[in-house]
Amino acid sequence: PVKTYALPVGVTLDRYIMRKQSDFSFATGELSQLLRDIALAGKIINREINRAGLIDVTGAYGANNVQGECQQKLDVIANIRFIRALKNGGEVCAIISEEDEEIIYTGNDHAKYVVAMDPLDGSSNIDVNVSIGTIFSIYRRVTPTGTRATIDDFMQGGRKQVAAGYILYGSSTMLVYTTGHGISGFTYDHSLGEFFLSHAEINSPVTGTIYSCNEGNYPMFPAAVRDYVDSCRQKNFMARYIGSLVADFHRNMIKGGIYLYPPTEKTPKGKLRLLYECFPLAFLAEQAGGRASDGFRDILDIEPTNLHQRTPLYIGARQLVEELLG
Ligand code: AHG
Ligand code: MN
Ligand code: MN
Ligand code: MN
Repeated sequence: PVKTYALPVGVTLDRYIMRKQSDFSFATGELSQLLRDIALAGKIINREINRAGLIDVTGAYGANNVQGECQQKLDVIANIRFIRALKNGGEVCAIISEEDEEIIYTGNDHAKYVVAMDPLDGSSNIDVNVSIGTIFSIYRRVTPTGTRATIDDFMQGGRKQVAAGYILYGSSTMLVYTTGHGISGFTYDHSLGEFFLSHAEINSPVTGTIYSCNEGNYPMFPAAVRDYVDSCRQKNFMARYIGSLVADFHRNMIKGGIYLYPPTEKTPKGKLRLLYECFPLAFLAEQAGGRASDGFRDILDIEPTNLHQRTPLYIGARQLVEELLG
């Protein structure tokens, strides 16, 4: 059965972060402030998304990003909003984003953290009012404070993340994050403008009966993945695929399932991006008791070499991922 969560008892995100500050290995308050800045950016993006059909922010922006994808207006808006919130917040010295080829410098060279982000995940769903998200991943910089951040700050590897999470703009808006001490989920109350704790200590079921992949690509999947998908069909698993990674991941984490984005001829290295999609979700998956693999290694053990590198992704309930890996 799907775990139910106790009704919110009025614990706001701010209060929760304050209480949990001692969880952070360096409890100086900067990481807490950074998480609050991210929540603020989430509220601002949420506002734009809610009014999307009314304020001419749907549709294509008219440019391509470094991935060769046609940027949507909301990709660009979310990117600008997020960068601005992190610049103004002052805790981040540099950012990498799906929407920018190079490192973005905030001007706060004395700040201790760097952030990798997918400002708007699920672009293809923007115009049709389907769930989308924002993904973030936070590292403590390795270069000395006071100097300019470098690519090394972003190439530390997934196990060095100090926090990671996402905002899901779904039937309700949620912020879910981990600092490596379990996962907490907050639901946004529009009328109060606050995130409230709604999902304390999220754990994924060990197994499940949901599989999520773009089955239109089935003929291009590697044979082992095709066999696995066949076995899911034989077991009458439920096929569920929204096409927004955040939403697909969130559902599977709560209900128990596996998400697959294998390499295909179109995208031989996989489609999803390691630093701002797969690392943060893999950190969450492990915290939830699940697993994340590229088919050979745990995602968190991949050594990054490039800001926008891609990887295949198999993520979700531990047993399901292990069955796939064989
Ligand atoms: P983004 O919108 O940030 O570029 O990410 C798109 C990703 C992810 O959200 C989704 O799960 C996946 O692309 C869907 O890919 P397909 O359309 O190939 O299934
Ligand atoms: Mn994109
Ligand atoms: Mn994405
Ligand atoms: Mn995106």
